[in-house]
Amino acid sequence: MAQTLAVIGTGYVGLVSGVCFAEHGNTVWCMDVDQDKIERLRRGESPIYEPGLEPLLQRNLHEGRLIFTEDLRQAIHHATVVFLCLPTPPDQDGSADIHYVLDTARAIAEIVAHDGIDRLRILVNRSTVPVGTTEQVQTLVRQVAPSADIRVASNPEFMSEGNAVQQTLNPDRVVVGSSDPDVITVLRELYQPFVDDYDRPLLVMDDKSAEVTKYAANAFLALRISFMNELSRYCESVGADIELVRTGISLDPRIGRTYLHPGIGFGGSCLPKDIRALVRSAHQVGMSLQLVEATANINAEQLHRFVERIRHRFGGSLARRRFAVWGLAFKPNTDDVRESPAHKLISALLADGATITAYDPEAMDTTRRVLGDRIEYARDMYSALDGADALIVATEWAEFRMPDWDNIKSRLQENVIFDGRNLWHPNMMQVLGFEYHSIGRRSVFPGV
Ligand code: UGA
Repeated sequence: MAQTLAVIGTGYVGLVSGVCFAEHGNTVWCMDVDQDKIERLRRGESPIYEPGLEPLLQRNLHEGRLIFTEDLRQAIHHATVVFLCLPTPPDQDGSADIHYVLDTARAIAEIVAHDGIDRLRILVNRSTVPVGTTEQVQTLVRQVAPSADIRVASNPEFMSEGNAVQQTLNPDRVVVGSSDPDVITVLRELYQPFVDDYDRPLLVMDDKSAEVTKYAANAFLALRISFMNELSRYCESVGADIELVRTGISLDPRIGRTYLHPGIGFGGSCLPKDIRALVRSAHQVGMSLQLVEATANINAEQLHRFVERIRHRFGGSLARRRFAVWGLAFKPNTDDVRESPAHKLISALLADGATITAYDPEAMDTTRRVLGDRIEYARDMYSALDGADALIVATEWAEFRMPDWDNIKSRLQENVIFDGRNLWHPNMMQVLGFEYHSIGRRSVFPGV
């Protein structure tokens, strides 16, 4: 049966979750403190670029199943389940700061206690939070509203940007962290249209295991990438080709094909932050998670090493050099630039005196907000190349894969490409007459 829900926080997780719950017939009140965002959402405009999100947002808004508000009291008033989809930014020491989660849970409990709302039963945390947070929130809510019967559960999300709508509507699994039969029954019913007992199940576990599952998933994905990045350096040293090695191992079903792409490192708002928080959380119980720490270190070195290769190619200094950078988003199909390897690369090149002209299909505005006029912004991918000493590829957007090579050559000063995402084959680049440097493969030079 369709339910009335509230989603607190309309960032990536909250907005996509809210829209997808509405798509399955629920009435969803979405609340955010950002008034501009709420006004845009009321007009049916998505504040983020996420494929497939805007049409679903508009349809459910039109059908009256999605309601946006800045008022927490209004948002939770009719809801039986409230999802907390709030930021958990890193503290100075890398720990996840959960004060938004705690403050909001307290505010909800105060409203429930004051207004005597008895409909509200379940508070579900969907953000990535350190182990023990569900328990902490439960204790807090009991203290603030002792006579209200609010049960707290964990339900981490596993969606990845660029594919978030599809992954939310068809999740690999839904993890519910709760030992309370009533909570489990309600969440099972809510997720019933999203899951399938055989290959996309809803897994019920205790709240701590659910919280750790989220960190474990992101750390393991990051670990695979760092493994390949470390191996790519080894391949460069011994004359092997990391892409052939990748294919060679990925056909083993025990290894699989995903998260094995070498590059200039992983970025985004989740993987880097979550592995730092996991490391920190282990330190707090007197442990060090050595593989996770190595994963973070290899990731930082990978970018540094790429910059060193560029610097070395240009005689040890980048002063007065001009580069075209293709790609600014932390990965394709998003305008998100949080912890983007492209931004880190650009900052390192600028610090060494280089001038940058950049192009990205979606992340120009988000980059402008961060880098302002420290770089130049091109109209299209080709005009970024005008007068540049080299092209640097930082994000693997599909539209970069089959470029007009003659157009590229006519604009670059020298036919030099540094490819941080292995978009092309070295042999092909040599035939085309480029000096081509990529990740974990031999560099090629025209006519050699
Ligand atoms: C990640 C996880 O993939 C999601 O499952 C999780 O729910 C989400 O974090 C979260 O915690 O909210 P996301 O940050 O959107 O999702 O990005 P990914 O697609 O995982 O990519 C992360 C980074 O790894 C990107 O910079 C990407 O370029 C890089 N990457 C990915 C590689 O360098 N190589 C690969 O083979 C795959």
